[in-house]
Amino acid sequence: MSTQTTGTIAVFGATGQQGGATVDALLDHKARVRALVRTPQSDRAQALAARVVELAALRTDGPTSLAAALGTVEGFYSMTPEANSLEEVEAEIRIGTALVDAAVEVGVPHAVFNSVFGADRESGVPRHDSKHWIEEHLRKSGLRAAMVRATAFMENFASVMAPSLEHGEIVLRLPLPQDVALKMISVRDIGRVAAALQLDTAEAPGEAVDLVGDELTSPQIAAAFGAHTGLPARYETLPLSALPNDLDKAMFRQFAKAPQCPSGLTVVRAIEPATLDLVEWIRTTGWTAPTNVAGS
Ligand SMILES: NC(=O)c1ccc[n+]([C@@H]2O[C@H](COP(=O)([O-])OP(=O)(O)OC[C@H]3O[C@@H](n4cnc5c(N)ncnc54)[C@H](OP(=O)(O)O)[C@@H]3O)[C@@H](O)[C@H]2O)c1
Repeated sequence: MSTQTTGTIAVFGATGQQGGATVDALLDHKARVRALVRTPQSDRAQALAARVVELAALRTDGPTSLAAALGTVEGFYSMTPEANSLEEVEAEIRIGTALVDAAVEVGVPHAVFNSVFGADRESGVPRHDSKHWIEEHLRKSGLRAAMVRATAFMENFASVMAPSLEHGEIVLRLPLPQDVALKMISVRDIGRVAAALQLDTAEAPGEAVDLVGDELTSPQIAAAFGAHTGLPARYETLPLSALPNDLDKAMFRQFAKAPQCPSGLTVVRAIEPATLDLVEWIRTTGWTAPTNVAGS
């Protein structure tokens, strides 16, 4: 693959899931990448360095280190870390706005901010509203920027939302009514779309892309895992009280209300035609049912 960019692209969150996928996609385009990391000695940072990614140490509470890390870059991809409490939501807003301010200070020519589906408006979901405020800050900053708004990661089905194998049956349990379609995207494709926008090989209509790779009800999701394993599958709706914290409860309440988003599917595929749907993600990742469940 080729790129129209010859300068360096800075990536915040490069040691994480979405930032890591963005680095992968930028390197596939032969772009030069600088990872902004807290701990350059960490195994994950060193694994990046081994792939000829430049490392720049930063502290998000240190404006000087931020601006220095962004010096001379041609583009800047950023995301914000997960917040699991209102204090962490406040910290997320501080980090996001500090990143924008540093980009403005050094005059970064082009930024891509990885936000969340629905962050174009206030929703009452704290970890979505945090991204809404950062988007607003970015918009008012005057930086040339595009938003990519992630939906649920398909990778959650290999971790926190994994179906289980119980008595020879695949069982999916989520706190979602069974007629609600969940919007989802693979982390790989988040990175590919972000990189394409960052490198100007694609355009975001209205400077924002809702990252939807598939949209399925929970019984349809269970059926996809069942078909892959050749086992019967069923879905059970969990009560919201099964969730560990109020932020998750607010988020799943919002998921149950969110309208369908067929335009997101079209826009994402126009940018990345090989975007995975859930069935393809299950196949390409070689998903296997967890075997450590009693009775499996
Ligand atoms: N899970 C989902 O389905 C989903 C869907 C949509 C949106 N989101 C959003 O996605 C975001 C999480 O993305 P992710 O899963 O890609 O993250 P992740 O894998 O947890 O990685 C977080 C990255 O941020 C860095 N980081 C964390 N705190 C930092 C700090 N204080 N200063 C500097 N760097 C810091 C970490 O670097 P270190 O190496 O230094 O730790 C790491 O590179 C959250 O905002 C979440 O709301 C998630």
